[in-house]
Amino acid sequence: PHWPGLVKMSSAEAGRFFCTAGRGLEPFLAREVRARLGATEVDCVSGKVFFRAAAGPGELRKLRSGERLFLLLKKHSPLPVSGNKGKMLHEIKSLVIEEPKYWLDIISVWRKLRGHEGKTDDVSQENTLALKRKSEEETNIASKRQKTEQVRAIVSEECQVEAGERCVAPERMSGQECWIENKTSSEFPSKGSGENPSANEKLSFSFRVSCRCSGAIAKILTSQEIGRAVGIALVKQCGWRADLRDPDLEIFVHLNDIHSVVGIPLFRLPLANREYIKTAGLRSTVAWAMASLAEISAGALVLDPMCGLGTILLEAAKEWPEACYWGADISDSQLEGADGNIRTAGLMDKIELLKASVKALPLPSESFDSVISDIPFGKKFKITNDAQLLPDILQEMERVLRVGGTIVLLLSQDLRKRMDSLTKCAGSGSPEATADGDSEAAAAKALSVDGNSSSLVLGVGESFLSSRHFGSLVPDGVYAVSLGKTDAFIHKYRKVCAAGN
Ligand SMILES: C[S@@+](CC[C@H](N)C(=O)[O-])C[C@H]1O[C@@H](n2cnc3c(N)ncnc32)[C@H](O)[C@@H]1O
Repeated sequence: PHWPGLVKMSSAEAGRFFCTAGRGLEPFLAREVRARLGATEVDCVSGKVFFRAAAGPGELRKLRSGERLFLLLKKHSPLPVSGNKGKMLHEIKSLVIEEPKYWLDIISVWRKLRGHEGKTDDVSQENTLALKRKSEEETNIASKRQKTEQVRAIVSEECQVEAGERCVAPERMSGQECWIENKTSSEFPSKGSGENPSANEKLSFSFRVSCRCSGAIAKILTSQEIGRAVGIALVKQCGWRADLRDPDLEIFVHLNDIHSVVGIPLFRLPLANREYIKTAGLRSTVAWAMASLAEISAGALVLDPMCGLGTILLEAAKEWPEACYWGADISDSQLEGADGNIRTAGLMDKIELLKASVKALPLPSESFDSVISDIPFGKKFKITNDAQLLPDILQEMERVLRVGGTIVLLLSQDLRKRMDSLTKCAGSGSPEATADGDSEAAAAKALSVDGNSSSLVLGVGESFLSSRHFGSLVPDGVYAVSLGKTDAFIHKYRKVCAAGN
């Protein structure tokens, strides 16, 4: 896809980062860091993408398919697991604690990147959040020392980042933990040691350790035990002060069967929290990923015929502002929400809304370059009981799409099956065995590699293709993504000839 504002910088000044991603979005994020940041050494694992990039906070903040971004301190193979807790804790402490010079360098990079954050546009969003926390902070403030920077990382937010994993932060430890003692090491002078006041001021950090632990190591040690051990070691080594509620610095330790990772979050809020979205609908990262598949170019006309609150349109219009967008929905309240979102985002001149049913769109045939839609499913939208709706939806989408255009749909597992059975009933006679197993395998492949879309064409699409209703639509990729509690599938099609041929 075309990436506006593509940045390339010298690899000599590049820093190492990792960004968490929702399940299935890792390949999108890997592609995005390469295209947007000119990243190198891109390594995609389940739930994370590691990379090297010479990018400032402004560029990093623009990442659209990631959740939380970290400066990478350490990436190591999984730690050996034994029954000896003491030995294991020692190994973990050695992993995190390096000589002071190493930490000085890392903190200096972190401070440089953080120093710019106040100028970025996430400030207003953080202010909103700060208001919610105001009363909590007021009770706290008397005991606070003066800080060189104000960092408020919220652990509960971080917990949402990776589905299926539990984040246990020191904040949740019972009582005041023993590692809240303030020792000063000679190598790492703390404030007031009298050597170099400005340097000392800079090093007088408060910190907390957020630890996530899964797999074999979690059977031996709890996240609390690891967090506490690392915390004590950092107090001793660096002379920092532990502050579980409002630390300057958060140190993130993630240990599992794939790797051992230590990092520092760069932004207070997840990247996925968009300051321009007033009322959230579909996950913004998934909406952006869908739009990124639609091949939107300057001057293109893009339609979401079931737009709801308009998340897909917002994500697309922010990223590809040279195109024109149309959203339709049958519900007045959804259209009102979409209108509010479009106004908040300042995209009134880019996105048009109309009230219409996807089954009978008042739009000319072959007029759109792309159709992108989050087809309703589940209890919230009860229309899927009407199996007839699925071919009706597709028929209209196919009609309004120009030849060569793309359709990108978000479907539930159930909806995929219904689609398959519908296309079979329609008399395709295709023996492709719907290949749910095959599609799962290929979808799983999509999770583990930085695949490109054309290599991910799956069997399930073939059953679709062979239907007599939708012969003009060629499948062009299936991507399994997580919506938190449920899994979903992004299906992409290209219209290769006029409908009915
Ligand atoms: C899953 S929601 C879309 C959510 C949207 N992506 C968002 O971010 O808010 C599906 C939408 O389809 C709309 N819908 C249901 N039946 C429809 C129909 N026949 N024609 C047009 N829209 C319809 C619902 O009102 C709902 O807003």
